[in-house]
Amino acid sequence: MQTTSKNSSQYPLPARIPRHIAIIMDGNGRWAKQRGMPRLFGHRAGTENLRRVLEAAVEFGVERLTVYAFSTENWNRPEDEVTGLMLLVEDMIDRELNNLHKNGVQLRHIGREDRLSEHLREKVHRAVEKTRNNTRLILNIAFNYGGRDEIVQAIKHIIDDGISAEQITEELVSSYLYTAGQPDPDLVVRTSGEVRVSNFLIWQSAYAEWYFTPKYWPDFDKDELYKAIIHFGDRERRFGMVSEQIQTP
Ligand code: FPP
Repeated sequence: MQTTSKNSSQYPLPARIPRHIAIIMDGNGRWAKQRGMPRLFGHRAGTENLRRVLEAAVEFGVERLTVYAFSTENWNRPEDEVTGLMLLVEDMIDRELNNLHKNGVQLRHIGREDRLSEHLREKVHRAVEKTRNNTRLILNIAFNYGGRDEIVQAIKHIIDDGISAEQITEELVSSYLYTAGQPDPDLVVRTSGEVRVSNFLIWQSAYAEWYFTPKYWPDFDKDELYKAIIHFGDRERRFGMVSEQIQTP
């Protein structure tokens, strides 16, 4: 990964940083429109930006990023945009996989596999397999993902496995989600000024801090990620308790 222009001392980090950040990368379309360009131009810029944010996240010591790249609802977009987004993901895997692997990034896919072409499915499997032992940063790509759908799929599998009502706990449900075995996000970021959850990690983000910024995703750079991390550092997470019960570092 490339080094960034400001040096690390210009980004003093708070004592508490979010280990797992989830991002709704919103605003690519509006970013492109502002420039009189087609929406896919914005998605391409958004993909480039993901690389920059990934580099910054590694530098800031974030361990896990989960990005919302394509929702189960996004199939309803115009056909050329859907096709373009599929090609962008393929292209990202083709161009970036070796570099991501070399830099210790572990790729994971969260979401459904149906409706993805055989070709893309295989490519995703190969990327996941190749990077499975990497530990520097885990990148979950939520692709063909919907939070409610994830819970419905989990319920189906729980029933298929013959689990009884008494055995059902929050931990058990978590273990049937696409994110099984992973810690919940500490911070969820949504760019572009929209203040909605949009079916993203609805189970996993129950206790996350949320950070909304008007920046469109292609403009959400290292400084913006830093601001989100500082915002998180200033928040007190109480998990339903009172301040006095919370241990501060
Ligand atoms: C939301 O912006 C963005 C998306 C639906 C797609 C996000 C995809 C990428 C950043 C690129 C692909 C990702 C990978 C991992 C290769 P929008 O189109 O809804 O923007 P708008 O609200 O301004 O129209």
